[in-house]
Amino acid sequence: MSKDNTLVPKAETAELAPFSARALQWFDEYGRKGLPWQQDISPYRVWLSEIMLQQTQVVTVIDYFQRFTARFPSVKSLAAAPLDEVLHLWSGLGYYTRAKNLHKAANQVMNNFGGVFPCEQEQLETLSGVGRSTAGAIRSIAFELPAAILDGNVKRVLARHQGIEGWPGKSQTLKQLWLAAEALTPQTRCRDYTQVMMDLGATVCTRTKPKCATCPVQHDCIALAYDRIEQLPGKKPKKVIPVKTTQMLLIQNVDGSVYLYKRPLTGIWPGLYSLPEIAQDESPATFIRSHFAINETDYTINAQTIDNFRHTFSHYHLDISVCRITLHKAPKLVSENTSLWYNVANKANIGLAAPIEKIVNSIFNSVND
Ligand code: ADE
Repeated sequence: MSKDNTLVPKAETAELAPFSARALQWFDEYGRKGLPWQQDISPYRVWLSEIMLQQTQVVTVIDYFQRFTARFPSVKSLAAAPLDEVLHLWSGLGYYTRAKNLHKAANQVMNNFGGVFPCEQEQLETLSGVGRSTAGAIRSIAFELPAAILDGNVKRVLARHQGIEGWPGKSQTLKQLWLAAEALTPQTRCRDYTQVMMDLGATVCTRTKPKCATCPVQHDCIALAYDRIEQLPGKKPKKVIPVKTTQMLLIQNVDGSVYLYKRPLTGIWPGLYSLPEIAQDESPATFIRSHFAINETDYTINAQTIDNFRHTFSHYHLDISVCRITLHKAPKLVSENTSLWYNVANKANIGLAAPIEKIVNSIFNSVND
């Protein structure tokens, strides 16, 4: 171990080709080349795919990317769309702040850059949702300019190959990883190099059971030499997240439609439609009578028809119980702007949080079984 807490390579490196040359040679043979955003490459398509791929796997993103680019073929069309429509197309991808940022960044490109994506790192980083690594990916993939990237997969490749100890969420570790990423990034074949770093992380240098025997940079990999593959990158110190509980009300109107309200743009599921919530020990009857101004005989509270389930956010678990209520008389809506009756058979163009969509669909399926 050296003084700065990094391991020293055992392997003799003098006769090896540079890291990037070995990685690129592997890319030519095994790298991913048929992904939708690798066709008709443009800064808009690269940016869109990078935002979608930030916390989501390639297999999931493919369909969303195709639907998005069919509906919004340009940054101009995306900027001009209502945020609700963007959120609707994003439904199910999760991490909705990305969709809000996407819409905001499209407008920034239109207003601050005359509708043309900038190619400079600093300018790209002014766009909402675009951090240092995403800016590097756009710069290198879309513009073929040298720029380092450091997403989760690349952190793993570099922590292992360079023997960088510590959890990458720690600023000192992150700094070392960026230094390594910058030092290894070549001046040519910038797009392919960025792609191969992602590909190596996703397909070879995987979190568990990495395929070191097929890795093009195995010969000077410090973690491999020192048998530290399982320990690197360092793990995040364990944090126990709290459990919150809520009761969701699935209220069905006389025509079977379900009552939804629009969540505020801050907090969880921003701007998406959701079921009304009350505390677990609160009475659904009180809510119904006060919210819809109807009598006791105008509704039925059904026995539990959906199992309780847990939805986990990054900072807490949410234990959800669902209470189903059937109205026998159509009430007036309280606020037409922020609530609606959602007809599952004839879906409105609105964004629904994934767990809410699951609850609503499950009821509809059971009713129609
Ligand atoms: N993850 C982030 N960006 C990616 C890309 N361009 N290709 C594959 N996986 C990715």
